Amino acid sequence: MAVSPFALGVNASTNRHSISPTFDHLKKSISPALKPIWKELLRQLPLKKIDVSNTVKKASGVVLDVLVDGLYRFVDQPYPPSQKNFAPVQEIGEAVEVACLEGELPAGFPEGVFVRNGPNPQFGCLQAAVSPLGLTNETWVEGEGMLHALFFKKAGDSDWSISYKNRYVESETFKLEKQRNKPSFIPAIEGDPLAVIAAFSLNKIRLNADNKFLCNTSVFEYLGKLYAISENYLPHEINSQTLETLGVWDFNGDWDRACTSHPKRAPGSGELVIMGIDIKKPFLVVGVVSADGKELRHKVDVELDKGVFSHEIGVTQRYNIIVDQSLSVDISRLAKGGQLLKYDKEKKSRFGVMPRYGDAGSVRWFEVETCSTFHILNTCEDGDEEGENEQAVKVEYHKFGESNYCSGSVFVAKDGSVEGDGEDGGWIATFVHNEVSDETQVHIIDVKDFEGEPVAKIRLPQRVPYGFHGTFMATPKKQ
Ligand SMILES: [Fe+2]
Repeated sequence: MAVSPFALGVNASTNRHSISPTFDHLKKSISPALKPIWKELLRQLPLKKIDVSNTVKKASGVVLDVLVDGLYRFVDQPYPPSQKNFAPVQEIGEAVEVACLEGELPAGFPEGVFVRNGPNPQFGCLQAAVSPLGLTNETWVEGEGMLHALFFKKAGDSDWSISYKNRYVESETFKLEKQRNKPSFIPAIEGDPLAVIAAFSLNKIRLNADNKFLCNTSVFEYLGKLYAISENYLPHEINSQTLETLGVWDFNGDWDRACTSHPKRAPGSGELVIMGIDIKKPFLVVGVVSADGKELRHKVDVELDKGVFSHEIGVTQRYNIIVDQSLSVDISRLAKGGQLLKYDKEKKSRFGVMPRYGDAGSVRWFEVETCSTFHILNTCEDGDEEGENEQAVKVEYHKFGESNYCSGSVFVAKDGSVEGDGEDGGWIATFVHNEVSDETQVHIIDVKDFEGEPVAKIRLPQRVPYGFHGTFMATPKKQ
């Protein structure tokens, strides 16, 4: 999975948006290093035509908009034909009934909702911005998060009602740009170094966030609630039936940074283990949320000596597994015209095993071959697995056929068999797009016949752009 590297530069803020900062706040927000840039911006703006003092007192946000409107030109980035399924789609509105094109849902398939997250630029295209300071542009991971959901409901003993719906994750920055009805955040992830730094600063002082809260990378369930999340902010709670965005989970304000996209429910205890990375110290922080979701019970700086692009944390019943890999993060490279992320072949890669409530000194590190690791397939403790030390990893392949590509694959446990059948009791559900027909289907594949044909193929009423992670949220059984 690709993740916006500059997302690392965005500090989580539990403050709600205020798009009218005072001019004093504005001046204080500019670090000494950026003052030459600020002077240049002001020099280019036709300030003599504006009664600055009065305007600033009444609406300094307007001045900032004038500044940006005067200096910046937003430009659409068209999609080449080879990338047509990266282009966004519209919200479909009410859920639409769909049916199995081939096969049928098998016995034991649970009722629930299969949701996948992915980037879907709000204004039809990724944006670039041209200014006297140079060019910056959005990368494909920067589209606003859109959820695509398939709802599975039983309509009888063997009949099903299946419906599809998609909807944006409505973060504060999404709503802000929607209200303005035009791109407002200056792209800040990629571009000319000076323009990138200026973009960050202008976004921050003008819109109170250095970049958009993308909310486009993953979805997860915790305590019966559904959340959408990306690397650069906090989880957003989603109504699992309507896909409405309900609000931000800020852990009661006790977590002062963004979360990476894969919070993990600890087996056994049910606590939620979260992780946040940053471009400045502390580079990697681990948190533990109480099993009732009400309290951040533990927060620890792992005390890494360099920024690392660590995307996922592993959990077992007693331990947290940290990845300290060779993909490092170094903001000083930006000023030199380089990229934020660096694959450092000289840096040792290692995995850290820490007790759930351990501190930095408790982490036991294991060096491994130099690698760049985004995701952890599985974690277990000695004695967890049957047949230990025999065929520890089983690899099988499912081929979708020419011109078909999948995204958002999830394991769907057989209804009522999570404990009994172990890992083999269920199916893989995934979105599959055909590049030739430009159609998207959802395939259901039996894990016991993984290389065989899907047991069901469901055609969707519109294509689903390529995206990232999904989850299957089973409907709770009625007592
Ligand atoms: Fe991921």
